Order: sequence, then C-alpha cells, then structure tokens
Amino acid sequence: MTVIFSGVQPSGDAPTLGNYLGAFKQFAAFQAENDCIYCVVDQHAITVKQDPKLLKERVRRLAAIYLAVGIDPDKSILFIQSEVPAHAQAAWMLQCIVSVGELERMTQYKDKSDGKARVNAALLTYPPLMVADILLYNTNVVPVGDDQKQHIELTRDLAERFNKQYKNVLTVPEISTPKQGARIMSLQEPTRKMSKSDENKKATIFLTDTPAQITKKN
Ligand code: AMP
Ligand code: TRP
Repeated sequence: MTVIFSGVQPSGDAPTLGNYLGAFKQFAAFQAENDCIYCVVDQHAITVKQDPKLLKERVRRLAAIYLAVGIDPDKSILFIQSEVPAHAQAAWMLQCIVSVGELERMTQYKDKSDGKARVNAALLTYPPLMVADILLYNTNVVPVGDDQKQHIELTRDLAERFNKQYKNVLTVPEISTPKQGARIMSLQEPTRKMSKSDENKKATIFLTDTPAQITKKN
C-alpha cells in the first residue's frame, strides 16, 4: 500500500479555499486506495505566539473541518501532532544533519522573517519538524499546495543524507500537487497567496464563510 501523509496548521480563523483546493481535496481523494495519515500540526502553529485557549479551540475546529471535507476516520488516521512525542524527537535528529544555510534558503522562512527585528529560532528550524512528520511514517506521497514544494525537496534531501550517513532506513517521499488550484491567490493582492492568517479578512475565502459573506468579498 502507498502511504500518504499530510498536515495542516490550526492557525487563523478557519481553513481557506486555498487549503481546500491545494490540500484537502487531494486528501479526501487519496483515501479510496491508500493508507492515509492526516495531522493537525499544532507544534508548527506555535512558531508564532498563540493564546493557549484559542489554539486548543482551533485544533478542535480544524479536526471538525477535516471531517467536513470528507476525511473518514474509519479509512484514515487523523491525529494531533503534539500528542505523538516522536515528531519532536525525530525533528531534533534532523536538525543535526541539516545546515543553517539550507534552512535560511527556505522561501517561507525568508518571507516570514523579512524586516523583523527579532525572529524565533523555531521559525528557522520549522522545516526539520515538517520533515520529521513525513519521514516517521515511511511516507510515499505528500499531498500539498505549491508553496510547500521547497519543504518537500528538503525532506527528500535529508532522507537521502540520513540513509547515506547512517543506515538505509528512510523512505524518500514524492510530492503530489493538484493540476488546478495548487496556488490560490489573495483576493486583495493577487501576487500573494491566499492565507488563513491574512489580517485583511476580505483577502480570504474561509471554508466557514456563508455564500453572502463570500459574495461581499468580491
Ligand atoms: P497551511 O494553511 O499553511 O497549514 O497549509 C495547509 C495546506 O494547504 C498545505 O498543503 C498548503 O500547501 C496548502 N495551501 C495553503 N494555502 C494555499 C493556497 N493559497 N493555494 C493552494 N494551496 C494552499
Ligand atoms: N508546513 C505545512 C504548511 O504550512 C504544514 C505541514 C506541517 C505539513 N507538517 C507537514 C504538510 C507534513 C505536509 C506534511 O502548510
């Protein structure tokens, strides 16, 4: 069986149309014939400051969205990252084989750290945690949107490096991006991707918006 793994952060008010077309739609389709594992990646969300009570609520809301978009717990494994300590443990091992230069080249890091006087170390070391998520389960395919391509490339590089340096134990995964909808853009700034943490709510179509709310954002 092919192992599918992916994760979504419990950040922002609710997932967006971008999350649906880039990620969730693929997640649901893969369930029919594969071993699917999907995760609420709450440890990725705490790279920026969070209100603990609100984060807990957002984890529950995201779990509900996973069910609403068609993830069937009888077919797929659905879990919360922080409940499995092996993710943080494996992330440490991967930090021991990645270089600072490789992490500094990640465009997501460059975007999020740009112009900031102070940057959390975890913003830089976020990719090894994502790599750990994927490699822990001998994942064959990772369904994601376009913005995660570079992180999946790094995952492949680190798996190959680990296998060479130590023992050939890690599966080198492939990426899956949809033919259409791999990069949905902001409604306000068409050069930027639609994001659930955009401060301007008019930029984003949330999966929980009503048809009337969506029409107003037009
Ligand atoms: P995130 O919201 O950053 O946790 O992203 C969860 C998944 O949705 C990842 O696979 C992303 O690549 C995908 N995604 C996020 N925003 C977009 C977008 N605007 N267009 C397409 N896919 C997206
Ligand atoms: N970094 C991804 C994002 O921001 C979320 C993520 C964390 C992920 N771990 C993962 C995606 C493992 C796929 C596989 O969208």
